[in-house]
Amino acid sequence: MRIAVVREALATDPLPRETRVAATPDSIKRLKALGFEISVESGAGEAANFPDALYVAAGATIAADARENYAAADILLKVRPLRQRDDLDAHEVDLLRVGATVLGFFYPGRNAELLERARARDLTVLAMECVPRISRAQKMDALSSQANIAGYRAVLEAANRFGSFFTGQMTAAGKVPPAKVLVIGAGVAGLAALGTAKGLGAIIRSFDTRAAVREQIESMGGEFLEVTYKEDGDGGGGYAKEMSPAFLEAEYALFRAQAKEVDIVITTALIPGKPAPKLWFKDMVELMKPGSVVVDMAAESGGNCDVTVADEVVVHNGVIVLGFTDLAGRLPTTASNLYGQNLVHLLTDMGGATGWKVDFDDEVVRGATVTHQGAITWPPPAKPAAAPAAPAAKPAAAPVAVAAVAAPEPVKASGGHGHGKVAREHLGSARTAPLTWVSFAILVVAYLGLSTAGTDASGLHHFAQQLTIFVLSCFVGVQVIWSVTPALHTPLMSVTNAISGIIVVGGMLHMHGDLAQPATILALLAVLFATINIGGGFLVTRRMLRMFHK
Ligand code: NAI
Repeated sequence: MRIAVVREALATDPLPRETRVAATPDSIKRLKALGFEISVESGAGEAANFPDALYVAAGATIAADARENYAAADILLKVRPLRQRDDLDAHEVDLLRVGATVLGFFYPGRNAELLERARARDLTVLAMECVPRISRAQKMDALSSQANIAGYRAVLEAANRFGSFFTGQMTAAGKVPPAKVLVIGAGVAGLAALGTAKGLGAIIRSFDTRAAVREQIESMGGEFLEVTYKEDGDGGGGYAKEMSPAFLEAEYALFRAQAKEVDIVITTALIPGKPAPKLWFKDMVELMKPGSVVVDMAAESGGNCDVTVADEVVVHNGVIVLGFTDLAGRLPTTASNLYGQNLVHLLTDMGGATGWKVDFDDEVVRGATVTHQGAITWPPPAKPAAAPAAPAAKPAAAPVAVAAVAAPEPVKASGGHGHGKVAREHLGSARTAPLTWVSFAILVVAYLGLSTAGTDASGLHHFAQQLTIFVLSCFVGVQVIWSVTPALHTPLMSVTNAISGIIVVGGMLHMHGDLAQPATILALLAVLFATINIGGGFLVTRRMLRMFHK
């Protein structure tokens, strides 16, 4: 199967021009390993610092003819939605062969005409922004990979225009206070902005309508701002819902108080399917000190700030308001690399060149596909709600397990760099599993013990003692291990697993007498499993630490 990669921008395009490219030399190597042939339009990667020679070295061919590159493609990889190519005097939809597949950003909601055009040409279009934000799809989540970069860049843009340090300084000439940075909306972009501003030494604070993000803001050393009016803004799937007017009034009052204090405001508030909510009004800009900076990341969808003009720098009352819509593209090499990897993961999921399939039973593929086989397939059908559980017939631990099954889609990743929340997925069933196993183990041990303890009183007494110790250690063990926050499991793995050293000691003490005796067999098994557990713990920790090595 043949993949084509094309130029995203022409020198004649209006600014800001797209700098990213849908495949990089690194991703080309992985696409080759999946069995694809790749042809790249000459100069496609130039703006992202990938000259043609690097693509050739990675195993791609450079297309001699740009038109032929489109026409021969089974799959076209894109960043921006399909568009008119003035230099080729044709629209990209028409340059492709009938029935070809396209992977790229598409925004079907605001591109109805383009959607119809792609349908009429029988194209299969997978819109990268429609990849559902579920745990399995994190590696394909291009919105998150790009928002993370944009959040970082937003802080650098602010720092570039701010007339002081971000970090506080005590110098011989005098004291410079640290900058105060307020981030509105702590989703993927907001958290990246908070992390970057903190790294530069600023005092960081953030407001979000979803109370669930408090922990993430605080874990970054930031202050989570609150309003007195109680209402949770969680709209499901890690996205926000529209708030009531009373809540918004309270939010505006908070912002008016903050406006007098903060030096930098970064706004990232987004409600899916709606224009960006207006949150930072003209009077708030006027309350800010001259020289302060507002970066409105929502500029492309209308802006969170009254004063914002998309892709322009506006100075209002001495306050600089930045409305850049190309923040991710201002780090073109990394943005292309991460986007290219998102595409590789999606292509892998779809079977690579050999097992290629547009599988509508695959939730990710179904969610992202907006046209297929001459039909518009967007929006995807809503997922059926889980059947309500019958409460009475379940054993004691069942309600938690049922809740886990009926729970909505695991929430979108938004911790750190968009990958924090999924740990909560299936938490209910994870909590009940150890109790079930422990109860089962106790029953087995009690059965084995009773069948070998004999009928004399001292044997039974000895067995009762041993069983009591076993039951107690099981429950203490479950409490110790399961009370550890999931986020700490891996780092603590070697230490917590090393606790099983006590099992090795206990097992060895019981290893005497006949090898065929159940007690000796159990002791042997205990030593074996505890040793695997300890060794495995250290291996996992080593693997994790290796990820942090530069
Ligand atoms: P996200 O959905 O992960 O985060 C948005 C956050 O805003 C959510 O946490 C939500 O709870 C919060 N929010 C919604 N209403 C709010 C309100 N009234 N007050 C406070 N918080 C509120 O979105 P993500 O991926 O972090 O993107 C953020 C924004 O950045 C989007 O508008 C996106 O289009 C934009 N973006 C801009 C780029 C650029 O170059 N300018 C590049 C990438 C993303």
